[in-house]
Amino acid sequence: MDRRQTTQCCQFVIAAPLSLYIHFPWCIKKCPYCDFNSHELKSELNETAYIETLIKDLQHDLALYKPSRRIDSIFMGGGTPSLFSGNAMNRLLIQLANHLNFIPDIEITMEVNPGAVEYDRFESYLAAGINRLSFGAQSFSDSQLKKLGRIHRGDNITTAVTAARRAGYSSVNIDLMYGLPRQSIEEAILDCEQAINLSPSHLSMYQLTIEPNTLFGKYPPALPSTDESEQMQNQLIELAEKHAYSRYEISAYSKPGCESRHNLNYWQFGDYLGIGAGAHSKLTTNGRIQRIWKPKHPTNYLKSIRNGTDSGPTNSKTLKRSELLLEFSMNALRITDGFQLNLAIQTTGLSEKEILTGLDLAIREKWIDYQPDSGRIKCTPFGYRFLDEILVSLLPDP
Ligand SMILES: C[S@@+](CC[C@H](N)C(=O)[O-])C[C@H]1O[C@@H](n2cnc3c(N)ncnc32)[C@H](O)[C@@H]1O
Ligand code: SF4
Repeated sequence: MDRRQTTQCCQFVIAAPLSLYIHFPWCIKKCPYCDFNSHELKSELNETAYIETLIKDLQHDLALYKPSRRIDSIFMGGGTPSLFSGNAMNRLLIQLANHLNFIPDIEITMEVNPGAVEYDRFESYLAAGINRLSFGAQSFSDSQLKKLGRIHRGDNITTAVTAARRAGYSSVNIDLMYGLPRQSIEEAILDCEQAINLSPSHLSMYQLTIEPNTLFGKYPPALPSTDESEQMQNQLIELAEKHAYSRYEISAYSKPGCESRHNLNYWQFGDYLGIGAGAHSKLTTNGRIQRIWKPKHPTNYLKSIRNGTDSGPTNSKTLKRSELLLEFSMNALRITDGFQLNLAIQTTGLSEKEILTGLDLAIREKWIDYQPDSGRIKCTPFGYRFLDEILVSLLPDP
């Protein structure tokens, strides 16, 4: 069942729940493949300064939306949030709860690097209210982890996940990457089996992409061929499904009922608030969909939020009507079950005719399947190969 409740607003119907994303921009070491807003920690971490700045950032944002809107998920991502102590997270969550309208069973996820967490911290994270952990495992092979510049070994993942379970965590995600340098299909399968042996409630399996602004972008490693990567993906899907993990998004697999609420909201074009260095928000107010972003570099972020200078038109953009279908489809088509036509109408404010005309080419090419009786629209297995072409067909006219 669709969990969304809706409220009428002008010609728009907006999705009521709101998610909160909090960015933690520091890591012990920068991984050579990583294009996220993460920076090597060069001096001691000043937890207090960052937490205080996050709260100031949130207070500033409260003016942007109705404070009565319910918050039903929080995601603490990075960087490496697990560099922060349970005490710091507790102070942060108390302040957030004072300012925001949390639903009683709010999902609160924190990313954990198995090489950058003290294993006795899990109890204090749980006590602070963090009820879901996402482990950045990537691979269980020590030689792969070394090539990926990771700071942990395969057995650290097992130790970390086991410690989290002992502390009381039942909601656990494991991030894996495949298509790694010179990786064979058998090696990718072995990684997936080792992850499944730890019985996470959720698995994410991403194909390694070489990003231009990274060390791998500058010195590209030898990767499996496109054919091999496709075979790997097919076998990984089969293996995950054999163990009752259903694939509900291109890279996301979950046990029944354990889908990531936060990510689903994002993929379904829901609204979210972002605080922290470089964090993005998407907010719908009075029929206007706005994207807002914070200064990216931690030093600039800390300075501008503290001095109250982070505002103004350079940090926000109102989406044009001609951009909405592309913005919606970019994420919604990644969901394997697709979406209801009504969801697209409600979240974008576009008419049924505008949406179906925009998707017409993709429907005719059989990249997308549209069932008029049920109103369901989804990418076909054939269409997943043409995701880029679909998105190009939705680009607004210059
Ligand atoms: C925001 S990252 C941060 C996770 C955490 N800092 C860690 O690495 O332990 C989330 C996930 O994205 C995936 N990822 C990062 N860079 C990637 C790339 N270039 N290609 C594919 N997946 C990537 C990794 O699986 C990673 O765990
Ligand atoms: S630990 Fe995670 S966020 Fe940090 S550099 Fe590595 S992949 Fe990026």
